[in-house]
Amino acid sequence: MSDVQLIWPNKNLALRAAGDDGYQWLPSDDPRLLVPLTFDLLTDRPLDSDANVLAIGDGLDVLEMLASRTSVLERGIRLVYVDPPFNTQVNFRQYRDSMKRPMWLSMMRDRLAALRPLLAEDASVWVHLDDSEVHRARAVMDEVFGEEAFVASVVWQKKTTRDSRAAFSSNHDTILVYAPSGPKKWKTSRNLLAKDEAHLQNRDGDPRGPWADAPFTAPGFRKGQQYDIVTPTGLVLRPPRGRSWYATEQTYRDLLGDGRLWFPKGGDGSPRLKLFAHQLRGLVPFTVWGASDTGTNDDAKRHLLTMFPDGEVFDTPKPEALLERIIHIATNPGELVVDIFGGSGTTAAVAHKMRRRWVIAERNMQTVLDFLLPRMQRVVDGSDLGGITETISWTGGGRFEMVNVPPRFGTLSGRSRVGAVKRQLAYQEARSVSSRSSREESHLVAT
Ligand SMILES: C[S@@+](CC[C@H](N)C(=O)[O-])C[C@H]1O[C@@H](n2cnc3c(N)ncnc32)[C@H](O)[C@@H]1O
Repeated sequence: MSDVQLIWPNKNLALRAAGDDGYQWLPSDDPRLLVPLTFDLLTDRPLDSDANVLAIGDGLDVLEMLASRTSVLERGIRLVYVDPPFNTQVNFRQYRDSMKRPMWLSMMRDRLAALRPLLAEDASVWVHLDDSEVHRARAVMDEVFGEEAFVASVVWQKKTTRDSRAAFSSNHDTILVYAPSGPKKWKTSRNLLAKDEAHLQNRDGDPRGPWADAPFTAPGFRKGQQYDIVTPTGLVLRPPRGRSWYATEQTYRDLLGDGRLWFPKGGDGSPRLKLFAHQLRGLVPFTVWGASDTGTNDDAKRHLLTMFPDGEVFDTPKPEALLERIIHIATNPGELVVDIFGGSGTTAAVAHKMRRRWVIAERNMQTVLDFLLPRMQRVVDGSDLGGITETISWTGGGRFEMVNVPPRFGTLSGRSRVGAVKRQLAYQEARSVSSRSSREESHLVAT
């Protein structure tokens, strides 16, 4: 453990959910914590190690319940992405974002600490924040996962418009990335980014297709790689000073015979090695992610508006392109993605479309009813045409289970969660049966 730590009042206490959106401090050995959490299964299949799960409840309660009472987390979590309230001291339409700092820090520490033992060996944990708390969160993550688990802090360009009233117009968030196995080991199992093939050209009409090119030289003096190369125009070339040719003379001849070398400047230039699409290694991700690659908050809002044109817009959604990149880097199909601050459900939607397993917890019942549940129903029935749907050719499919996990402390207000969700599930079932049969009918007409 590091000899430098962040301290805050009540740090030694646990922070558990109470009522609709409150919390309660209590000693971590309080006997009330031994009372098992209750839960209501809202769908008809068991919560097993193949299930995708949308849980209504506090993230910590949901993790505790799933880990102790089901086999959902049994195979280990490969990726945690969380986008918690940033503690901006602004209240959004869907949730309050103004906690006292000690409470926010304990809230994060306790949830990250609960995730830690549930992680697979090569897991990574991505925490999305802004400048309000990111520096303190990093100290908390050092404490929970160890300083040596730090991998990167990714700067995401969240908007492209300027706020002319501010001292600085902040247009980025930070995503802290930790891998408990350490960056060196994690690097061997994470995925590279696909290379953009748009820049490949076919300048010599090669039947094998377009290619990129790289210098046919290597740094340093290597005796076996110093020989004469005669260009197509008859110039005799030697490697530049302090460098060698990229390969031995025999390999050079083989490559030349195979049409794998290109001489620029009309045949006068130094040879270049041709690299076809399948030979290009993927790209190591940068730590700065621009809006043109990963979208903005406004892109995410526009996508939600196409799904829910009549409701109020969710205030802080993240774009699917951002989650696609994170999930691509950190997981492979079939692996488990967990987000315990679900919001409008971007993580679940993208994980589902990318054929990963997922578990999402969201505490705010209205957010589940207005956004998360109907969004996931559209993803499954193939009627969400936005986000990454087109780029990854998503047409619908799969399923998910739902569970309600009431908090141990306080009371919940408003109408019955269970009843409201069951009504919406039944409504959706009827809707998808009728859209399935009208699709089948139009298919019959067309054929
Ligand atoms: C910033 S939003 C997440 C937005 C989401 N990434 C998206 O793309 O829509 C944070 C969400 O966390 C929820 N939340 C806050 N505290 C929570 C807790 N303890 N457990 C579960 N959800 C919580 C809030 O209700 C809110 O919907």
